[in-house]
Amino acid sequence: MMVAALLLAAAPVAPAFQYCVSCHSVDPAETGLPAPSLDGVVGRTAGSRSDFDYSPAMRAAGAKGLVWTRETLKAFLANPEGVVPGTAMQRLPPGTPVDEVIDWLARR
Ligand code: HEC
Repeated sequence: MMVAALLLAAAPVAPAFQYCVSCHSVDPAETGLPAPSLDGVVGRTAGSRSDFDYSPAMRAAGAKGLVWTRETLKAFLANPEGVVPGTAMQRLPPGTPVDEVIDWLARR
């Protein structure tokens, strides 16, 4: 148990997050990527990082009160356009382990 926890803490990203790393990072210092940092994304207002140039659609969603919770993340990852019409994030490939990614983002 201890060892597993230590290994998890030491792992840079969870295997499930490999589905996101072509665009996203969880390292807040890593900017200039095609997508916003997902560091501390659970509990954050959508489109609210000052170091990323969001689409007008994502900014508007945040201004209207969209907050990333497990539930809104799940809906967004299943169908980005369904939650934020006009978002720059495309649909994920079928079979993306969305629940695993969300669990990991919420835990770290
Ligand atoms: C092909 C590139 C790409 C991939 C792969 C991708 N995203 Fe995104 N994602 C984006 C872009 C671009 C945005 C910004 C959208 C906008 O401004 O409308 C975004 C935005 C987001 C946001 C909103 C963040 C915020 O600060 O409001 C979340 C949450 C998110 N992505 C989660 C994920 C997760 C989790 C994965 C992996 C399962 C993933 N994305 C995979 C491109 C990608």
